[in-house]
Amino acid sequence: MTKIFVDLNKFLFTYWKLKFDDNILWVTLDCPGKSANVFSNAVRDELNELVHGIHFSSEKGEPFSKVEGIVFKSEKRSGFAAGADVTEFKALNENSNLTVETRDLVIKGWKLFQDLELLSEKIPTVALINGFCMGGGLEFALACKYIITVDQPKTKLALPEVQLGIYPGWGGIKRLPRRVGVLNAFDMMLTGKIIDSRKAKKIGLADFSSPPRTAELTCRRFIKSQPKKKRITFINKMLMGFFRPLIYQILLHKVKKKVNPKHYPAPFGILELWKKYDGDPGADLSIHDRIVGSSTAKNLLRIFFLRERLKSIGKVNKASHDNKLKHVHVIGAGTMGADIAVLCAIRGLEVTLQDTSENQIAKAIGVANKTISKKIKNKSLAQEALDRLIPDPNGSGMITADLVIEAIVENLEAKRNLFKVIEIKSKSDAIIATNTSSIRLEDIASELKVPNRLIGIHFFNPVSKMPLVEIVKTDNLNKKVENAAYDFVNKIGKLPLPVKSSPGFLVNAVLGPYLQNSMRSIDGGYSPEQVDDAMKKWGMPMGPLELLDIVGLDIMIAAGRAMIKDGVMPRCLEELVRKKHLGKKTDKGFYEWKNGRAVKRKVKLLDFHQGTHLAENLIQPLIKKTVDLVDSGIVDDSELADAGVTFGTGFAPFRGGPLNYKNQLKKEKNIYP
Ligand code: NAI
Repeated sequence: MTKIFVDLNKFLFTYWKLKFDDNILWVTLDCPGKSANVFSNAVRDELNELVHGIHFSSEKGEPFSKVEGIVFKSEKRSGFAAGADVTEFKALNENSNLTVETRDLVIKGWKLFQDLELLSEKIPTVALINGFCMGGGLEFALACKYIITVDQPKTKLALPEVQLGIYPGWGGIKRLPRRVGVLNAFDMMLTGKIIDSRKAKKIGLADFSSPPRTAELTCRRFIKSQPKKKRITFINKMLMGFFRPLIYQILLHKVKKKVNPKHYPAPFGILELWKKYDGDPGADLSIHDRIVGSSTAKNLLRIFFLRERLKSIGKVNKASHDNKLKHVHVIGAGTMGADIAVLCAIRGLEVTLQDTSENQIAKAIGVANKTISKKIKNKSLAQEALDRLIPDPNGSGMITADLVIEAIVENLEAKRNLFKVIEIKSKSDAIIATNTSSIRLEDIASELKVPNRLIGIHFFNPVSKMPLVEIVKTDNLNKKVENAAYDFVNKIGKLPLPVKSSPGFLVNAVLGPYLQNSMRSIDGGYSPEQVDDAMKKWGMPMGPLELLDIVGLDIMIAAGRAMIKDGVMPRCLEELVRKKHLGKKTDKGFYEWKNGRAVKRKVKLLDFHQGTHLAENLIQPLIKKTVDLVDSGIVDDSELADAGVTFGTGFAPFRGGPLNYKNQLKKEKNIYP
């Protein structure tokens, strides 16, 4: 058994707390004042001192402690570590040259974890992961000899750097393939995929997945017995050795099929770093510069901070209201209501679901059953979620609910009448909300006794996939209602965006002119395939005409007539609606639809320049409308507008939002005066 003599009095740290017990050094990470640990500069500096201090400890014996092994763990309930401190990136981004400044950060981090790995060869180290362990946190764990994960729902591991347009520069690219094999490793690194404790054990990332009660005992056992590490399989040895250039080509080909290197340079850089330098960023800083210096990295970081800002809207206001929302009553079990109800049940809320049609409720419960068993693998937890969703054809849940959400047909009279009933039956302090996408809230509330109770909680379709929810405010909205709505949206894992009540709010209002413009390009002679292809190559997740087919052309024509001043619709839209080709729901629209998919014809697509030119023209009305909505105060500021349009429409995230893109173009090409 290896033992080294360490003078523990040398280490008086702010972030790492040391405890010596049974010849094991327990090192606990706890970043003061933060809900989650991050590997900031200061945290890494202290770790560096510790690693070197132990590494070069003397062999003098008493009074020094005889350390047989080290266990690293976290004091936070949330998890081990959220990764590098991205706020330091933000500061760098704003104040100096991100590319140059971060070179030092990656080189130092790489060296530190190399040293930790060397120390782990001298004396066994264990990373005990209970809760999330992301990015730099996981790279730290990978440099330890053993990884023990705690088998509980919050344990999640990932290298998500690629989603921020950056790369795992502290040894993840080198060490992850050695642990889990090349294919599993790149599956994680090129997508940012998250895995749980059991999966981590299964693929070899964790040496043991322990129940919470025995996790520390397991660490002790690993230190004392030092079980042999699993060997890399022969195949993986070959993939990392002789076949590395071939594997690189195969992975490169796969990535190229999915993303454009100009839009997303990070996955290409990750592959190149692995192939040429086994992940060492310092070996060729031009790769680092290409990734971190790209506008994509800047913009994706911007999107990350925008997401954090939206999340914090609910949290900041938590103190100002009593957070006791437990029961939601949803009225309307159609496309939207059914999905909202199931999401709330999955997120732990009690839900009653009302509809005038019992058939509709039965259908919704059937779909909920499938969705819940897909999302929640543990059968008893899935059953509990399903039990929380209660069919309520008579609407008795309305009386006790803390929140009533209306999602019935888009008809002013129907909504007005319903809210008169809701106002009488519901608790006086319940939030009453509408999911309307186009009717003014003031009109719906006009016959209410207390109109300032009504708020818009506007979800997007499909509810399970779209992260944004617009919180629609009238001028006199009760502040307590508004704060409770943010809290609700936060609770169900969505991002709230405050907007003023006005036609289309933010997201639909900006989509309108873009979609209209796309249809006018069809009138002008382009084919749907050409337009959709051009927009996808520009970076949109889906082409506008496919999107129109999914929304439904009847709905589009009604919304268009309400929103366009002269009321002149694109000819192609008028014609398709006249023929009752309404899109996906009738299997015919701009496309034919088969098995839920648009059938695209083989037409000659536009070349790069033609496609880019068309895409830029189509997107301009969206940008212009976003500017107008910020100017007219529908959304509070341009950051929130960028966040709303990105999370509500999927607007090419690497462009950082429409207004950010507009500013970038202005700088680069001197257009957009
Ligand atoms: P839907 O037509 O699929 O469902 C409406 C449901 O309401 C039907 O099941 C109907 O039986 C029921 N219903 C009608 N009157 C009722 C009443 N008085 N009491 C109880 N139930 C009643 O409609 P969908 O698409 O779910 O839309 C609902 C609301 O959500 C609308 O206000 C719409 O503008 C809004 N919305 C729709 C989106 C979409 O993509 N479909 C997206 C965002 C908002």
